[in-house]
Amino acid sequence: MQPTITPMETTMGATVTGIDLANMSTAEWRMVEDAFHEHAVLLFPAQNLTDEAQIAFALRFGEMELLRSDPDAKAVNISNQKPDGSVVQPGEHGYNALRGNEGWHTDSSYMPLAAKASVLSAQVVPSSGGETAVADMRDAYDALDQDMKDKIADLSAYHSLYQSQAKIGYTVATGAGYGYHTKGAPLRPLVYTHPATGRKSLFIGRHAYRIPGMDDGEAKELLDGLLEFACQPPRTYYHAWKPGDVMMWDNRCTLHAAQPYDYNQPRVMRHTRIAGDPAMDLAATAKDEAASGFEPTTSNL
Ligand code: OGA
Ligand code: MN
Repeated sequence: MQPTITPMETTMGATVTGIDLANMSTAEWRMVEDAFHEHAVLLFPAQNLTDEAQIAFALRFGEMELLRSDPDAKAVNISNQKPDGSVVQPGEHGYNALRGNEGWHTDSSYMPLAAKASVLSAQVVPSSGGETAVADMRDAYDALDQDMKDKIADLSAYHSLYQSQAKIGYTVATGAGYGYHTKGAPLRPLVYTHPATGRKSLFIGRHAYRIPGMDDGEAKELLDGLLEFACQPPRTYYHAWKPGDVMMWDNRCTLHAAQPYDYNQPRVMRHTRIAGDPAMDLAATAKDEAASGFEPTTSNL
């Protein structure tokens, strides 16, 4: 079996076929890693990975971000289905997080250490809708005019799950759980330089909300404007899932968003998240906190 890598008709993304992610040779893994750097989003149709295989695949890219305090929870459900088979209703636990995922975002930008990549597989899909959209922030940066590039070159924004959920009407008490910062919100530059490719990208999304040195109204206008500009063709791809498909994205240079569907139907996805590199992806604010005795590691996030 010879892997085939077919670039998508958008500025990012490639479909990889003729490969079994659960049984890759070293040469095949090298191809996958190179393709990940080049294309930022990889789609592997019909893999039907076991949980163990999905975790093992994710671990090839780096350390796992543990999404719960449970050290065994290396993969989590992104799902509206409850253990009894019924689906979560508005107001029930988890519903608001799923609706939040429908806004353009990058995973864990609201954590002290942002995520490198995420691997998502489809288990149960609704009869229509429920696609996952991805957008290329490398091309978005390249497409900015020089004035805007100059304007944002040295700007940073805070990232907060409290803020992004509040924007869509869901306010939560402090200390609400995973992802809700307990120290100050992380501060991240608007322009990210990729450690493997050297390419610049826009680092924005729904969690970004305030720019030091700028009036809050002006910052909102700037961030909203950039987001709208960035998440447009030819930079976007919408994946209509089949159970067994696997898609992964580079959180450092893409955004993603779940698409709506009939919320009375179950949609069950399995998610593994690879931690960022502390040298690149630890927020400046978190470094300050580390200097003051707080040590953000992947296991205490
Ligand atoms: C995620 C996510 C979107 C989706 O897995 O991080 O945002 O389509 N998923 O479920
Ligand atoms: Mn996400």
